[in-house]
Amino acid sequence: MKKITKICCIGAGYVGGPTMSVIASQCPEIQVTVVDINEDRIAQWNTEDLDKLPIYEPGLKEIVGKSRGKNLFFSTAVDKAIDEAQMIFISVNTPTKTYGKGKGQAADLKFIELCARNIAKVAKDDKIVVEKSTLPVRTAQAIQNILDNTGNSVKFEILSNPEFLAEGTAIEDLLHADRVLIGGNDTPSGQEAKDALSEVYEHWLPKERILQTNVWSSELSKLVANAFLAQRVSSINTISALCEKTDANIQEISRAIGFDSRIGSKFLNASVGFGGSCFQKDILNLVYIARSYGLQEVADYWEQVIIANDYQKSRFAENIISTLYNTISGKKIVLYGWAFKKDTNDTRESPAISVADALLEERAEIIVYDPKVSAERIYADLDYLGTRPPEENRKLLTVTNDPIKATEAAHAIAILTEWDEFKTYDWEAIYRQMLKPAFVFDGRRLLDTATMEQIGFNYYKIGQS
Ligand code: UDX
Ligand code: UDX
Repeated sequence: MKKITKICCIGAGYVGGPTMSVIASQCPEIQVTVVDINEDRIAQWNTEDLDKLPIYEPGLKEIVGKSRGKNLFFSTAVDKAIDEAQMIFISVNTPTKTYGKGKGQAADLKFIELCARNIAKVAKDDKIVVEKSTLPVRTAQAIQNILDNTGNSVKFEILSNPEFLAEGTAIEDLLHADRVLIGGNDTPSGQEAKDALSEVYEHWLPKERILQTNVWSSELSKLVANAFLAQRVSSINTISALCEKTDANIQEISRAIGFDSRIGSKFLNASVGFGGSCFQKDILNLVYIARSYGLQEVADYWEQVIIANDYQKSRFAENIISTLYNTISGKKIVLYGWAFKKDTNDTRESPAISVADALLEERAEIIVYDPKVSAERIYADLDYLGTRPPEENRKLLTVTNDPIKATEAAHAIAILTEWDEFKTYDWEAIYRQMLKPAFVFDGRRLLDTATMEQIGFNYYKIGQS
């Protein structure tokens, strides 16, 4: 088997950037080049000041600092990097289609196809092409077809190597992965390719955690893993609604059921809803695939996970409105957090977006604070919904970098992301300067009920009456 000495990754995003940085740092003898068509993004990856990398992930800047310029490169020279590499990762985004067949559900594969065509055009020798993006089942076949019909005699071996890292803990997840999944053809050349990729990971992971499967199993496993995780969150969130009506406490329930080793304790935190680039998209994909095979009941079953999540987000917003005496027009409401979870600047599908949108519909005056998300991003997220003109969004919603001052004369605060810093605020001082009665709606169960009530807040926590 040929030793891998040069890797290229197309797509310098949340997945490609951290994954390649870790590979480079763990495999000093492999040259890793991450390419992207977005010049700004590449320029940001190359900035001198490591605090200005385009992606915020704990531990990332240290790893990039260690390897960049040695065996880790960020570049816009896509063709050159493809040409030189023996192994090419495709890590471009696959958004949900916003048009045509499968609109709102199916994954838009146009970027993947563009990458495949580009590889076909440039390659002069045999390549291993690795799907890193989460894709609908059978995409590898589509890529294979494009690559096999290029007319030159180059041989391509396609592998599926889905990413299981969670944002905010990406570096940890990569360094200490529970498992790495490598799907490939059951042919001698397919086996050789799988082994070549296994060897890359074996630089830092024990062999038994590297699982080889066929391509379809690998692709489908990724969708199913995310669907199961999201299902846990939706399951516990539906029970949080029940707890709010009764004297049961969702945290006590999570703890009680989590002790059952068959259930386990992770992913049982009730919240304002799950977000992120993957959960919703992957379930929609699963639903679309099931439906396209005529499996209506299977599709409906998984779709319910998304319906429950939408319910949780709108329930949270409606509770704010009804608690503030059914009118929030002109009331100042401060949102703490915009990212879909802590320790990331990613806002894709963040519940904060729909909560803010619902409050803006009632003409509240919103102030947003998030330690890592830019004002530009926040406005882009809202404008994308198209609920109202962009000018209106800017008039009703402002973004601040002073979370404490923002609460002066505010009617309410809603916690939408579980940033640790919110726990350290001087909540007594905040209380003093808010209008009374002062309301806090905690969508992340971050603060202590007794303390907040003692200060004088009307404090509402997801999953508690
Ligand atoms: C990833 C995966 O690829 C996606 O399938 C998974 O489900 C979620 O995460 P992510 O890395 O988060 O995507 O996406 P993003 O941060 O948008 O990065 C993708 C990058 O690819 C962008 O920087 C974009 O400019 C680049 N790109 C896109 C190309 O370089 N070429 C293209 O043709 C299209
Ligand atoms: C997820 C998967 O975990 C990862 O394996 C996959 O590769 C990509 O998708 P990510 O979306 O980055 O990762 O974050 P994750 O930690 O899974 O959280 C997803 C959402 O669920 C977040 O909005 C989070 O706040 C929410 N969540 C998670 C809860 O509300 N409660 C929980 O108990 C856990």
